[in-house]
Amino acid sequence: MLALTELTLSHFRSHLRAELHLDGRPVAIHGKNGAGKTNILEAVSLFSPGRGLRRASAADMVRRPEGLGWKLKAVLQAPDQAYEIETWSEEGAARQVRIDNKASNQIALGQICRVVWLVPVMDRLWVEAAEGRRRFLDRIALSFDPSHAEATLTYEKAMRERNRLLKEQVRDAAWYRVVEAQMGTAGHRIHTARCSAVQRLIEAQDKAETAFPTAHLDLVQSEGEMPQSEADLVQALAEGRMRDMKVGRSLVGPHRSDLIGTYVHKGIAAKECSTGEQKALLVSLILANARALTASEGAPPILLLDEVAAHLDAGRRAALYDEICALGAQAWMTGTGAELFAELGTRAQVLEVGDMEGISQVVSR
Ligand SMILES: Nc1ncnc2c1ncn2[C@@H]1O[C@H](COP(=O)(O)OP(=O)(O)O)[C@@H](O)[C@H]1O
Ligand SMILES: [Mg+2]
Repeated sequence: MLALTELTLSHFRSHLRAELHLDGRPVAIHGKNGAGKTNILEAVSLFSPGRGLRRASAADMVRRPEGLGWKLKAVLQAPDQAYEIETWSEEGAARQVRIDNKASNQIALGQICRVVWLVPVMDRLWVEAAEGRRRFLDRIALSFDPSHAEATLTYEKAMRERNRLLKEQVRDAAWYRVVEAQMGTAGHRIHTARCSAVQRLIEAQDKAETAFPTAHLDLVQSEGEMPQSEADLVQALAEGRMRDMKVGRSLVGPHRSDLIGTYVHKGIAAKECSTGEQKALLVSLILANARALTASEGAPPILLLDEVAAHLDAGRRAALYDEICALGAQAWMTGTGAELFAELGTRAQVLEVGDMEGISQVVSR
């Protein structure tokens, strides 16, 4: 099992204080618009590396108007042990992490906790810019390989540095060698991890009996080819300097990749599917991710499915609940009314979020 069993939010977004006691079952949260449901899912998402499901800065998460800082605490039940995790931001500065009362970091967090999410803004994932699809795939790759976070950070830092050199029209090769070597190593690792994630998602769908449509995935480059080895990528960067200098940014590497989805049984590109079908494909991939991880790690990731019921008809919704329960995943789901979760019965913990003078009342039924 991988699940949060205790969660406390302090001064986090709309929650002055909220305490949740969880028992490992899926968590269905309902409450009025603006009650703070998504804020709770965002809090859970911060128990994995990165900026969380809204990609917000630590400063944005500070509860206003006080604006001092926020803190999240949780007990994480992992397959072989429990961890006490705290993550917080002081005065909106970059968030910090403590695991079992020792100073730690986000990379270490990624080693013990895997969190994957679907949020309403992803309803347009297949039709919008490639960046969103890369991010979606990276989150899944990270769940398979915790070191993916490190590779991504290293790559982005090196690329920012290279882009700065390009903008400043620096021509001396010596300045580029170190950053391009870093981009080569990290970039190749990112690409390999993505390819492997795609492969694992395809395989996990192949074997599955599921009510959700099979999504085929292709990782492509927006232009040209992705260099096949670390050395090839370093060479491509060196050879592309003059071209890149004209545009002031790097035009080769994994930041130019795109994820193309296909609704297999219809032979239609995901971006041409109906809104409901596009959502179903994403659900399919999240479930495939969970199945693959259960097979390799013994536990599915924590799933955050914000407003997931919105585009699913009652039959699909019931099928989703059945699959989540069969996987044994701690899936956090939100909706405005309890009736959306009726099919779950006692298989889930149903919580209602209300508000009393800032103290969020999270009532378990
Ligand atoms: N930093 C913040 N400080 C205080 N309130 C916030 C902050 N960020 C968002 N909110 C409030 O949180 C509420 C939205 O919460 P959300 O979790 O998205 O609601 P929902 O239950 O509809 O998912 C809004 O009323 C918003 O104004
Ligand atoms: Mg919401």
